[in-house]
Amino acid sequence: MKKLVALLLAAVMTMSLLTACGNNASEETAKTDTAAEQGEEGASQALADGVLTVGTNAEFPPFEYVDDNGEADGFDIALIRAIGEKLGAEVVVENMEFDSLVASIGSKIDVAIAGMTVTDERKESVDFSDSYYEAVQYVILPADSEIATAEDLVGKTIGVQLGTTGDFIASDDIADTTVQQYNKAVDAVNDLINGRLDCVIIDKNPALVFESRFEGQVKAVPGEQFAFGVEEYAIALPKGDAALAQQINGALAEIKEDGTFDQLVKTYIEGE
Ligand code: ARG
Repeated sequence: MKKLVALLLAAVMTMSLLTACGNNASEETAKTDTAAEQGEEGASQALADGVLTVGTNAEFPPFEYVDDNGEADGFDIALIRAIGEKLGAEVVVENMEFDSLVASIGSKIDVAIAGMTVTDERKESVDFSDSYYEAVQYVILPADSEIATAEDLVGKTIGVQLGTTGDFIASDDIADTTVQQYNKAVDAVNDLINGRLDCVIIDKNPALVFESRFEGQVKAVPGEQFAFGVEEYAIALPKGDAALAQQINGALAEIKEDGTFDQLVKTYIEGE
């Protein structure tokens, strides 16, 4: 009887050992499968259909604008198309209001590229790629304006694009302002020229584009003169999609390394 018990025990132990081994083995296989899927097909849902739907707001030259054929073009558009090419994905651009971009990620669009500054508040709802451009807010003034320092902005009527960092500065950081929010930056500049605003606060490169477009009527003053801080542009991504972030950052790094990025800067930004 004792022998039988011992035999049975031995059998049970062998069996459980075998099962343990079996479990381990299948767990490992499962892990390898997932890794392979990630590597070969991309684990991100966003790219599963081979299409990267990109939101932008094409009211922000030279980063994005509507060209003569009615198509969105600009530095950001060319950059995301180059990224799409590296990822083997077709890029479809959706032009929408800047203020609705962040909320549309994960539903109407996969990602957003729109000269978008990385901010802590936005990071609560989206992730950001590695940053690709440095910016600062500029102040556009009527050519004969005497506004020159941060003090001078107190109590002024300021035009901004709705939901931008220029809007946040004018609304939150400068005392006693009246802030007029526009969906299109150019409408703010037109109101400045018409005497309805004291100034417009907008990012450096668009400010420089508007300065040359409305030459003699307005001047663009560097934000450093008003103690505005440095900002970083990045692509806004669905929160928690690490696979997509990795793919986009990888493509971005390649584009920087192979000279494409510098070429785009020359074509779209320095060529202005
Ligand atoms: N950099 C600013 C921000 O993130 C303004 C961006 C506006 N971009 C645009 N495409 N309209 O708030």
